[in-house]
Amino acid sequence: MRKTTIVEMLKKAGENFISGESIAGELKISRTAVWKHIQTLRKNGYEILSSERRGYKLKDAPDILLPSEIQIGLDTQIIGKEMHYQPTVDSTNQLAKKLAYHGAADGAIVVAEEQTGGKGRLDRNFFSPRSKGIWFSIILRPNFLPKDAPKCTLMAAVAVAEAMMRFNLKAEIKWPNDILHDGRKLVGILTEITGEIGKITYLVIGVGINVNINRDEFPEELRDIASSLSEVKGGEISRVEFFRAVLEEFDKLYREVNAAGFDKILERWRKYNVTLGKNIRVISASDGDSFTGKAIDLNHDGALVVETADGLRTVYAGDVSIR
Ligand code: BTN
Repeated sequence: MRKTTIVEMLKKAGENFISGESIAGELKISRTAVWKHIQTLRKNGYEILSSERRGYKLKDAPDILLPSEIQIGLDTQIIGKEMHYQPTVDSTNQLAKKLAYHGAADGAIVVAEEQTGGKGRLDRNFFSPRSKGIWFSIILRPNFLPKDAPKCTLMAAVAVAEAMMRFNLKAEIKWPNDILHDGRKLVGILTEITGEIGKITYLVIGVGINVNINRDEFPEELRDIASSLSEVKGGEISRVEFFRAVLEEFDKLYREVNAAGFDKILERWRKYNVTLGKNIRVISASDGDSFTGKAIDLNHDGALVVETADGLRTVYAGDVSIR
């Protein structure tokens, strides 16, 4: 079982002070060690009052994505039991692949406040400014076949959409996995797979969520095509709470997939999709070929079926723009 943390004890005490002695007793550490932990927490942005007689009291907790914060009350069985946090990283997907190679567990998470080399699909960059979004990767070691891996991307999109529902935010999924609001992108997902023929060794699903980014904070070229949850809601959102919601929704879906396959996830994806029934332009990821048509269905593999002037085409990976 996970050990209680000082932050949890302070939060539980609420408006009351809690003595250094009782923290030390509960955590089986010295009072000096408690004091050192309190200093570290303060450095991390926690406002903690201290009084020689009464002990410590939490005045304010920062909205930073520390595992010790996220894991408080996190209701998951697989996802986020192992968590790696970095204030700054080149790309959480890169780090997740390294950790997975060295044996990180199924459901392990890598999360950063900022990415200096965030990667998007089709070799694009992904804008990931400090403390403004949730930039994270999930390592999975699933028992399904490599051909099912693309559906994990759909699963991640559905997880974020369900988390948005919990926050009363409407989500629109553009095939395969962009989450939009009024046509502007809020969330991007990049899934990378390592394996051999017939076996997934591990999958890394990277998710970037624009949480508290004002329009003028986006680089000029993104201003008309990107948005953020705070812009949609009209006010800041707690990244810690939203992240917990995403991990919980993802955990439910992943357990569902392990038990019964992807059918329900595809059904849920359809509920949020804004692609089916629309006239679209597709740039195929495999050969860069571009064509237009009407998106008519999502097949059993999660691929998009497009009706074109030359007949039906099935797209497994690519970029879609709605016309
Ligand atoms: C896209 O929309 O093109 C996909 C964007 C994926 C971005 C996320 S942010 C966390 C993870 N680390 C990365 O370098 N990329 C993904």
